[in-house]
Amino acid sequence: MSLPGSNSARHVAIIMDGNGRWAKRRHLPRAEGHRRGVEAVRRIARAAREMGLEALTLYAFSTENWRRSEDEIAALMGLMKRFILSDLDEFVANNVRLRIIGDYKAFPADITKLIDNALARTAGNDGTTLAVALNYGAQDEIARAAAKAAAQGAVTVEAIEAELDTAGMPPLDLLIRTSGEQRLSNFLLWQAAYAELWFTDVLWPDFKPEHLAEALASFGTRERRYGGR
Ligand code: IPE
Ligand code: IPE
Ligand code: MG
Repeated sequence: MSLPGSNSARHVAIIMDGNGRWAKRRHLPRAEGHRRGVEAVRRIARAAREMGLEALTLYAFSTENWRRSEDEIAALMGLMKRFILSDLDEFVANNVRLRIIGDYKAFPADITKLIDNALARTAGNDGTTLAVALNYGAQDEIARAAAKAAAQGAVTVEAIEAELDTAGMPPLDLLIRTSGEQRLSNFLLWQAAYAELWFTDVLWPDFKPEHLAEALASFGTRERRYGGR
């Protein structure tokens, strides 16, 4: 797909928000909103690959999301498991490299095992990178990276950057948040330093490839200055 504008994004990240409100509007349980949210993940991961993005990073579970009810957390864990089981073959077949940012080892052992297997099976792929943020918080990420940099003797911007969970990924170009909220909620605080931001009222389960295309088109028209002139 060719996109208008002069700049193409290499790395897009999405705060996938609004599953609960999507369900509430339809008098459905929140878990149904999350289930429909997974379908949006599948659609958008495919679209990102077809549009030639180098990397797509999706915020799936934050370090603060542990504050939700046990039921909701269990529903999210169940969906994650089912998603890996049903979609891993497609990622392998399409040269998608899976990556996790955040401390996913805090999840139950059955999930971490599935994740480790998925990471191993796609490690050799060099197409689109799909990074999923699980038990991710940018403050936690930066603190962990700074501690590692300190242990190596130099707390510099470069040393911290090299220890972030996103190390080696292309710089973040575009950060999208759905559902009308306009905040970062502890997502990619470091990486967003010069990212372009795009907010939409569309709720995540309703997010379609055309919305991604619209965001990319907007990105294509923006002038990035990085503080210079
Ligand atoms: C985003 O949808 C999904 C996760 C945070 C896991 P929400 O569950 O936050 O949906 P709203 O914000 O309540 O509508
Ligand atoms: C951010 O959404 C986390 C994810 C999308 C996984 P939240 O719904 O948790 O954020 P707040 O609470 O509205 O800031
Ligand atoms: Mg929310």
